[in-house]
Amino acid sequence: MVKVTFVLPDKTTRAVEAEPGWKLMEIAVNNAVPGIDGDCGGEAACATCHVYVEQKWREPTGERNDVEQAMLENSFEVRENSRLSCQIEVTEALDGLVVEVAPS
Ligand code: FES
Repeated sequence: MVKVTFVLPDKTTRAVEAEPGWKLMEIAVNNAVPGIDGDCGGEAACATCHVYVEQKWREPTGERNDVEQAMLENSFEVRENSRLSCQIEVTEALDGLVVEVAPS
């Protein structure tokens, strides 16, 4: 299992155990992490799974894909480290991952 910590907009944290192979959004929704809704089911079409990835985790989580990039260009509160968590697959390499939940 992989440990993932979500930092909520109020700066409280929610640490969860994630099984590799799942999308980060799915892990958040399954653990009722506030602010991650996953309304489109992971199709990169709603941005209700928007997170900010801490600097040290940007490379292991990969680059935005084209569809994700287009969605983020039409989203709010976008930063350089914004990602759609439905486009991040949990792997063993992400053990200890910390992401911040974007304000909704
Ligand atoms: Fe809709 Fe990620 S769940 S964009």
